[in-house]
Amino acid sequence: MPNNIVFAGLFIHSSSNTDFSILNGYVWIKNGKITKIGSTEEFNSLENSGSLAEVEIIKLSPSQLIIPGFVDCHVHAPQFPNIGLGLDRPLLEWLDKYTFPLEKKYSDVAFAAKVYDQVVQRLLHNGTTTACYFGSLHLEGTLELVKSAIKHHQRAQVGKVSMNLKNDAGYYNTVEKELADTASFVHKVLELKNDLVQPVITPRFAISCDEQLMTGLANISDQYGCRIQSHLCENLKEIEYVLQINPKCTSYAEVYDKSLLLNDRCIMAHAIHMTDQEIDLLSSKGTAVAHCPASNTRLKSGLCPVRKLLDSNITVGLGTDVSGGDSSSILDALRRTMDVSTHLEVKGADGYSIDSKEAFYLATLGGAKALRLEDKIGSFEVGKEFDALLVDVYAENGPIDKYDFEVEQNTEECATSLLQRFIYMGDDRNIVQVYVKGKRECMSQFLEHRGELL
Ligand code: GUN
Ligand code: FE
Repeated sequence: MPNNIVFAGLFIHSSSNTDFSILNGYVWIKNGKITKIGSTEEFNSLENSGSLAEVEIIKLSPSQLIIPGFVDCHVHAPQFPNIGLGLDRPLLEWLDKYTFPLEKKYSDVAFAAKVYDQVVQRLLHNGTTTACYFGSLHLEGTLELVKSAIKHHQRAQVGKVSMNLKNDAGYYNTVEKELADTASFVHKVLELKNDLVQPVITPRFAISCDEQLMTGLANISDQYGCRIQSHLCENLKEIEYVLQINPKCTSYAEVYDKSLLLNDRCIMAHAIHMTDQEIDLLSSKGTAVAHCPASNTRLKSGLCPVRKLLDSNITVGLGTDVSGGDSSSILDALRRTMDVSTHLEVKGADGYSIDSKEAFYLATLGGAKALRLEDKIGSFEVGKEFDALLVDVYAENGPIDKYDFEVEQNTEECATSLLQRFIYMGDDRNIVQVYVKGKRECMSQFLEHRGELL
């Protein structure tokens, strides 16, 4: 059945990084796309004239609002079984002790299928309608992640991780195998012709990949026009080691640039400790950054100066970076973005704090821009696809109590108050429905069955 839905009620999205756009009215979705947006008066006259007879009508209650779906710009799907574990070590030790041994297990395709099915549902449940995933080193295992995203109708950019330099876990391939498997992965994903899922070229980081592998991967990316993701300047020891094994380069970003990986299809995670020259380099190449505040704090990597990146015209989105990050919720990443930026400002970095409006922008439209999906998602415009969350701020058994008195507010104030409460206090209990390309995901089914999944 073609989907044809009209939502009537309160809609909020970011019109810019500093402003909300609030609509009290209706949004009409046909076949996943927004075809009309209008006022409550227009909705009433459409309804009274019988024009909506064939249309599913969803009228929001006064405590409900619709916002764009969240965009997770950086998340490691195979690391979910480790979430909340082993965060007592710095990055390089954590990778060797906890992460590589777990990721190696995804050579088992059945194990991969089982975990990924749960990961995709968990993220949807948290309101992540688009995720940019790292898979594992394994071609077949990572294809299971693609299948899970398609099965559960999540928008996804998925990368088979590439690594050719030795580590203690023996978790790497030869350059030849990496290039062949990556080309095959890209080919297989594109062959599916699924418009929600795209392949991403994914050199893990410059400690795991040499120049020959990275230039080969850049070549595949150029050939297919596909996106690129990696990690950059996350940890001081990491940077030191990268410069040690690349003595001809003066900076970490230069290592990637020399391998032709930096361009406007590329997104780098973390980018905490970039020099001014590296910031200028990323900015001039149009490379985006995935800000991952949970992981940056948990692994004691550092405090990312997001304001400085934004002021240098770098596009920034948010990432959970599970399982370096201890939360798979972008709402949590949004709050930690506010917290970390405020800590920087309190410590003397004037103007560095990011308020709730700007953090909301980074979690939605900013993320869409960072993944180069802003023509399709991130806000409610005619012609865009409808990726959205129906939020009930006072949901039954939710975290936010309603008190029995009314503060006088106009529509705009009321909408802003509702959204603020959700931003500061909400969680998945407030996310009543999740829509990806106009299709409703059944969250209650996930709740009922999650105990049986693993
Ligand atoms: N750098 C290289 N691999 C990883 C990873 O899996 N997580 C994080 N946080 N940083 C990395
Ligand atoms: Fe990461």
